[in-house]
Parts: sequence; C-alpha cells; structure tokens
Amino acid sequence: MYSLSKHLLTPLLLLSLLFQICVSLDTITPDEPLKDGDILVSHRETFALGFFSPANSSRRYVGIWYNKVPLKTVVWVANRDDPLDDTAGILSIDDHGNLVITETNRSIPIWSTNASVVSANHSMARLLDTGNLVLVHPETESFIWQSFDFPTDTMLPFMKLGLDRRTGLNRFLTSWKSKDDPGTGNCTYAIDPTGYPQLYLYEGGAPLWRAGSWTGKRWSGVPEMTQNYIFNISYADNQDEITIEYGVTVPNVFTRMMVEEPGVVQRSTWSETGWVRYWSAPKEKCDNYQECGPNSYCDPNNVEKFECTCLPGFEPKSARDWFLRDGSGGCVRNVSTCNSGEGFVKLARMKLPNTSIARANMSLSLKGCEQACLKNCTCTAYTNADETKGGIGCLTWHGNLVDTRVYINGGQYLYLRVDAVTLAQYAKKNGLLQNKGKLAILVVSITVILLIVASTVYWFIMRKKKEKRQSKYTFSITSAAASFEESSTRRELDGSTRNSDLQFFELSKIVAATDNFSVSNKLGEGGFGSVYKGCLYNGKEIAVKRLSKYSGQGIEEFKNEVAIIAKLQHRNLVRILGYCVQGEEKMLIYEYLPNRSLDTFIFDETKRSLLDWGKCFEIICGIARGILYLHQDSRLRIIHRDLKASNVLLDNAMHPKIADFGMARIVGGESGDQIEANTNCVVGTFGYMSPEYAMRGLFSVKSDVYSFGVLLLEIIFGKRNSTYFHDDPSLNLIGHVWELWKEGKAMEIVDSSLVDKTPDNEVARCIQIGLLCVQEYATDRPNMSSVVAMLGNDRPLPSPQQPAFVLKGSNHRKDTSTSDGAISVNEVTVSLIHGR
Ligand SMILES: *[C@@H]1O[C@H](CO)[C@@H](O)[C@H](O)[C@H]1NC(C)=O
Ligand SMILES: *[C@@H]1O[C@H](CO)[C@@H](O)[C@H](O)[C@H]1NC(C)=O
Ligand SMILES: *[C@@H]1O[C@H](CO)[C@@H](O)[C@H](O)[C@H]1NC(C)=O
Ligand SMILES: *[C@@H]1O[C@H](CO)[C@@H](O)[C@H](O)[C@H]1NC(C)=O
Ligand SMILES: *[C@@H]1O[C@H](CO)[C@@H](O)[C@H](O)[C@H]1NC(C)=O
Ligand SMILES: *[C@@H]1O[C@H](CO)[C@@H](O)[C@H](O)[C@H]1NC(C)=O
Ligand SMILES: *[C@@H]1O[C@H](CO)[C@@H](O)[C@H](O)[C@H]1NC(C)=O
Ligand SMILES: *[C@@H]1O[C@H](CO)[C@@H](O)[C@H](O)[C@H]1NC(C)=O
Ligand SMILES: *[C@@H]1O[C@H](CO)[C@@H](O)[C@H](O)[C@H]1NC(C)=O
Ligand SMILES: *[C@@H]1O[C@H](CO)[C@@H](O)[C@H](O)[C@H]1NC(C)=O
Repeated sequence: MYSLSKHLLTPLLLLSLLFQICVSLDTITPDEPLKDGDILVSHRETFALGFFSPANSSRRYVGIWYNKVPLKTVVWVANRDDPLDDTAGILSIDDHGNLVITETNRSIPIWSTNASVVSANHSMARLLDTGNLVLVHPETESFIWQSFDFPTDTMLPFMKLGLDRRTGLNRFLTSWKSKDDPGTGNCTYAIDPTGYPQLYLYEGGAPLWRAGSWTGKRWSGVPEMTQNYIFNISYADNQDEITIEYGVTVPNVFTRMMVEEPGVVQRSTWSETGWVRYWSAPKEKCDNYQECGPNSYCDPNNVEKFECTCLPGFEPKSARDWFLRDGSGGCVRNVSTCNSGEGFVKLARMKLPNTSIARANMSLSLKGCEQACLKNCTCTAYTNADETKGGIGCLTWHGNLVDTRVYINGGQYLYLRVDAVTLAQYAKKNGLLQNKGKLAILVVSITVILLIVASTVYWFIMRKKKEKRQSKYTFSITSAAASFEESSTRRELDGSTRNSDLQFFELSKIVAATDNFSVSNKLGEGGFGSVYKGCLYNGKEIAVKRLSKYSGQGIEEFKNEVAIIAKLQHRNLVRILGYCVQGEEKMLIYEYLPNRSLDTFIFDETKRSLLDWGKCFEIICGIARGILYLHQDSRLRIIHRDLKASNVLLDNAMHPKIADFGMARIVGGESGDQIEANTNCVVGTFGYMSPEYAMRGLFSVKSDVYSFGVLLLEIIFGKRNSTYFHDDPSLNLIGHVWELWKEGKAMEIVDSSLVDKTPDNEVARCIQIGLLCVQEYATDRPNMSSVVAMLGNDRPLPSPQQPAFVLKGSNHRKDTSTSDGAISVNEVTVSLIHGR
C-alpha cells in the first residue's frame, strides 16, 4: 500500500511541478524574450502582460491587463504612442539591460525603458501580482525601473501617485485618446507640489477640477470621500515625497482609479459582470475650476438666482458682468483690512481655496493661527491644516482666494479676514439681542410661535385619542395603506409614519445620489423593482429600492414594507432610512451594506473561504435572533414569508441583516395569537417554501422556521437547496443531508474549509437543528425561541422526523393529500422544483 502510493506520487509530483513551471512564467530574461502571442502571467495569476490590440483597432501594443477579469481591461500600456502595425513585435532585454520593444529584423527599438543600467546584461523583467512590471538588477535584486513609475490612465492599489523628491519624478495619470486608442490623451490627474500640495484634474494643461489639498482625511474637494472598508488611503508629504497611495484590505477585490476623456476621473470596482463606477468627478457646475472668479464662491443651491456670491466684505469687480450672470471676474475689496479693526468671519462647509499660495505651519494651534494671520496684513484667510484629531496645524492664505465653493454637506471651516464694518455686521447677525427694535420683533414672534406650538400639540392629542378608539389590530397595515390610497403625497405619508424617524427624500436628491439610476449603480433586480447604490452629498452610502412603475402589485408591497419596517428596529434587520414618493416614483431608502448578500458568499467557492466556522455560526445565530424578533419580540407578530440567502445582507463586520419585507405579513398585534393565516396568493421562493404553504397557502411562523432550516443547511454545506446530487437526481440538498444523517455520515459532506478548524459536535448539532426546522409537519418544527435556545446551549436535541420533499426511503411517510389521494404532497412539490 505504502509503496504503491509512493510510485504513484512521483509522476504526479513531476507533472504538477511541470505544470507550475508552465503557468508561472512571470519573467523575461535576455535568453527568453516575449513574442507577440505569448503572455506573461504574474505569480498568483492576477495580472497578465503581452501584446494586444484595442477594440476597433489592429495596431499592436504591449500592455498589462487583469488576468482574472473576463472583460479584457488594460491597466498599463508600454508603447502607447508608438504602436506596431503587425504581429512581428518582440519584447526583450537589450545589451544594456533595458527592456525594449523591437520589430523582427530591425535593430532600433520602438520603445525602451531608458534606464541607465551599467552593463547589467543579465537584468530580468518580472510582472508582479500588484500589476507592476519591474526590471530587476541581477546582482542587487533592486528595481532598476518599474511601470508603476510611469502610469498610463489607471491607478492600481499600492501604486504611488505624486512626486518623489529624491529623483524629481512626478507620477501622474494620463487619459487614453479614446477607447480604441491608448495614445497619450489630453487629460491628466496629477499632484501639483506648489505651495501646499494639491491634486488636480487637467485638460490640455488647464485645470478642469481641483480635488484640492489633503485635509488629513480626504481631499478638500472630495467631501464624499470616506474611509472605505475596501481601501486604506495613505498620504505622505515629507522630505522624500509628496504621494498618495491606496491599499486594498479585502482580498480578491479589483478596484481601479482612472482618468478618461473627456475630463473625468473615476473609481470603479469589478463585480461579477462588469465594472461598477463608485465615484466620479467633476459632478456639477460648481466643481469646475474657477466657476466663480477670485474672492467669490460657488453655491449649487443658488442656481435659480446665480450660483456665484462674493465672499463677505467683497463686492463684484464689475457690477455689470455680475448682473449679466458672469461671475468670472470675481470680487474685490475696497476697504482696508490692515490695522483698522479687522477680524475674522467663520464660513462653514467650504472647499478650501487654491493652496498654491498658502503656507502651512504644523506647530501652531487654531488660536495661534488666528494671531499669526492677524499680524500679517497679506494674510487673507486661515484654517486648520489637518482635520484629524479635532484639527491641527495652521494654513494661511496670502492673496486672492481662488476656486472656492460651499457644499450641502461636508466641507470645512474657513476663517476669512474682513474689515471692521463687515465684522460688525456679521457679529450682529450672530448675536440676537443687539438693539431694542429687534427685541420688540422678537417678543412678537416668540408669542406667535408659542401659539402655533400650543395649537399643534392640542390637535395632536385629539388625533391620538381618535386613533386609540380604533381597533388595535387594524393599526398595522391598513392604517398606513389607507393613507397611500388617498394620495401618495408626502404629507399623507408623514402622517402614517409619524412615530418613526423615517425621513422623506427629495426625488432630485435620489437622482443625484444614484447618478440618475445609472446602470453602473444598479445592485440588483428585486421582486418588484430594481435596487441601486447611491451616495448622498455627505458621503453616506445608501441602497435605493425603486419600485417599477408598471407593477400594480408593487405599490401594495411598498405600502406594506414601509408600514412594517418603519416599526422595526433590530441589529439583525436591515435599517430603513427613508422613503421617496413623488409622482409615479416610489422608493425605499435603506442603509447600504457593502458586503451585499449572503448568497454571494456561501455559494461562491472563493468568497466562501473568507468564512470560517466561527463566522458561519455567528451568521446563523444572527439570522435566528432577527427572525425571533420578528416572530415575538417586536410589538407586532410578523411573518417574513421570503427568507432566503439573497435576502440576508451582510454589513462590514459580516453581521447578518434580514432584508426585503415586501412579502411580510403582520398576524395579530401585541397579544395576538393568530399564528396561521390563509392566502390565495402564494408568494415566496421554491426551495425555501414549507410544504403547507406551497401546497395549501397556509403560512405561520413555522413556515419561516422551515425557510430558516433550509438557509442553515445551505450555509453549512455551501450548496443551494435546489442543487441535485449526482448519485441521486431526485434528492435536493435537504434530502441528501437527511439520507446521510440517518446513516450518521452527514459530516462527510461538510465543506472541508469549515471542518478543518471546527469542533465537530457544534457543526453536527447545527445540522440537527437544521433538520428539526425542515420537518414535514409544522407542529413538529420548533419555534424560533427554541431554535435560538438550542443554538445557545448544548443540551441534548430531539431527533428530527423526515423532512418535507423527500421521496426516497420514505418508510414512514404519512400522506397529507386529500380525498382522491392520488398524489402526495411530496411528489407534487418535487416536480414543481424540477419544472423551475
Ligand atoms: C467599435 O466600433 C463600433 C462601430 O463603429 C462602435 O459601435 C463601438 O462603440 C466601437 N467600440 C469601441 C470600444 O470603441
Ligand atoms: C526576417 O528576416 C528573415 C531572414 O532575412 C526573413 O526570412 C523573415 O521573413 C524576416 N521577418 C520579418 C518579419 O520581416
Ligand atoms: C527613451 O529615450 C528616447 C531617446 O531619448 C526617447 O525618444 C523615448 O521616448 C524614451 N522612451 C521612454 C519610454 O521614455
Ligand atoms: C554579458 O554577459 C556575458 C556572458 O553571458 C559576459 O561574457 C559579458 O562580459 C557581459 N557583458 C557585460 C557588458 O557585462
Ligand atoms: C482634447 O482632445 C480632444 C480629442 O483628442 C479634443 O477634441 C479636445 O479639443 C482636446 N482638448 C484640449 C483642451 O486640448
Ligand atoms: C493598508 O493596510 C494593509 C494591511 O492593514 C497594509 O499592509 C498596507 O500597507 C496598507 N496600505 C496603505 C496604503 O496604507
Ligand atoms: C471703491 O472706492 C472708491 C473710492 O474710495 C469708489 O469711487 C469706488 O466706487 C469703490 N468701488 C467699489 C467697487 O465700491
Ligand atoms: C491656483 O493654482 C494654480 C495651479 O497650481 C496656479 O497656477 C495659480 O496661479 C493659482 N492661482 C492663484 C490665484 O494663485
Ligand atoms: C511656526 O510657528 C512657530 C510658533 O509660532 C514658529 O516658531 C515657527 O517659526 C513657525 N514656522 C514657520 C515655518 O513659519
Ligand atoms: C507675511 O507673510 C508673507 C507670506 O508668508 C511673508 O512673505 C511676509 O514676510 C510676511 N510679512 C510679515 C510682516 O511677517
């Protein structure tokens, strides 16, 4: 036995070694150049390098692209301006050790790394897993040259953008000429080190958009930038460098920042079927560089009038131009602000002005900053240089304040130097009790306000009394639903959700947040509409469920979902932030959960490896607690009716949150014990539906328990319940597990990634709990509080009866079908699943 396996092993080992050698070709040596048609693949097969032709072009370029992304996405091009016309190109190491592209039978290279290598004729080029192509010195192993120093249009994680002060090299992105021409385009994204460093998007050398200076947390022109669970960002400004770098903290995420023609910088991330654009700039008119001239600011809320406004204490340079809505001339100040009683006005939510004329002193506090600015008459404004830790350092401007705007959310404080008269005006605005005339007005208005408040409170109390007189059961769906029917206006809806802190969102805000419901923001297609990812002005990410206009049913579900979810709060339920009803549009706004839904993890080979048993168990318990809350801990008794892996979302820390209450039903109020209801309309998902519900339309809390059991087994086994097994095509997952469990062999098919590090009895116990939940008869199934208890202790469990929908080995099957008895419940449903 031993010798046999040894004999078998040797050729296998050789074969695998050989295979490895073939695949892991990630280097070019002087003896092994790369011909057109060959490709180089990085060690972990993340990136590939070779000759390629862009779409709609026959010209040949050497480039790097993602090896694992099915859509060929080029991230770097060597000879972007010198393509080859045929496939005779060769990428090789020349006599001086440089990497060159030559045409066969020609000696002059069309492209070269141009590094000053001293007689290193054995240098090697290697493609790294970061997407970096490096030229390595044969003796010192140091990098002679790297493609990350000469980026094209794409910034990859771990690549640095900006200035290396030691070598004077400034790395920046340059757009392609067009989608089918990688030649040097005229848009660039670069760090300008003048004064206090800033990031700019240029077109043809002129600033198009200023991302601004680094505030410690973000670029001052990107208030929506937040610490993301995918990236960590590090900015460096020291004697060696001024650079920005993005790291990726989650494995197997492909994310890139790129600059495109005409004048757009964007970040996108690969998700299964395509690149999803998460962010782009510039977004609106006020983002354009110097939309309003010096000493004026752009206010996107002022569009009806004119978006440019002079800073306090300034007047339009040309009143006529200003009248004609031309703000480019900017504003000027006619009065002295030098040793004549001047002071500072605090402006909120600002984008900091051009800092190429600003000075920083990191050892000053904000108070010290004010004094330093006041002392020097050329100083026009100041603020903290770094927003972190409540604000540190001092940044002062000396001269015109250029390219500022206000944000609706986010932005920073800017302390503006103003003359004595303006200062007095602003002080007055802030202090209310300044003169007696105003005091009189104040007394009158306070009286009026009090009257209004009193009458509102009276009305509210009367209304409450009236509501109480109504039955306690109808309170649930019907009261909310009725108000929708009358009119889907905002006021009506506010009435029905008064007790929750549901927020009304303007349609325009949602349109802006979701990039007008762009395809790239779409997260998925739900039962009654689509779900989009959105980003509010303050950087908060949201998920928007937009009900399709043509689905009459959808409106019912909408009313239902608002009514139900507005009353629920639990950490294992997805949180609703608000809603939007305007014209035909009906939308629900939820918190955005970046890890998407559970099914994308448990049924995916690679992502599954991120979940160890501990995590799986936590997820199972979280779901169980969420359902328990729905069934008995909340004020209402709610049956979800559509529990499944894709309706469980995961937050940053992989905590499960139950979503999608479109199908949920309230059965009885606080003390209601009506736990079974009948419906003509069976909704839900096959594979998760209990037999009594699928067959007879009966639903109860026990149908949710059934779905939970299915979900639990799916999590443990990493397979959909609708998966069939080779050896017996009539068995679904539950049936298969049941057969093995009866023989005591259920642990055999537990995913190996789980079992290695697992106390077996806990997994086995969970399998048994799962089987208890999917028992054929609702009365046999435990309720959710027992399930939670069973998950939480290790007392002996009852033995499960045969689950529903199992045909094979059904030695004690009781037939539940009626009168004619021709057909059993099990057979019908199995054929339903087959017919899907
Ligand atoms: C290629 O050409 C076709 C037809 O002219 C055009 O529709 C398509 O967008 C082009 N593709 C690219 C990537 O430019
Ligand atoms: C290169 O030169 C060889 C010998 O002169 C010739 O046979 C071959 O066709 C040439 N190849 C190309 C691509 O011109
Ligand atoms: C290398 O140097 C040559 C000559 O100075 C120049 O024409 C070419 O553009 C350089 N190539 C690169 C990739 O910098
Ligand atoms: C290049 O390598 C060869 C051996 O392959 C060696 O003989 C030669 O001296 C080297 N040339 C230089 C300039 O180092
Ligand atoms: C940028 O390039 C495009 C096409 O190559 C051209 O139409 C446009 O005028 C250029 N813009 C500038 C500012 O040079
Ligand atoms: C991001 O975090 C990872 C691990 O925490 C670290 O290795 C990497 O250096 C960080 N990258 C940046 C750019 O901060
Ligand atoms: C500036 O002051 C001068 C005189 O002091 C006056 O004639 C002029 O109109 C003022 N300009 C503005 C824009 O107020
Ligand atoms: C603003 O920044 C640009 C680019 O750094 C610079 O050329 C320009 O002079 C600055 N504007 C002012 C008013 O200083
Ligand atoms: C920064 O402020 C400190 C304290 O006032 C001062 O001593 C120092 O000279 C300043 N540094 C610069 C570069 O102006
Ligand atoms: C005011 O600040 C500017 C810029 O930092 C500097 O050049 C100038 O010398 C300062 N003037 C005084 C009086 O400190």
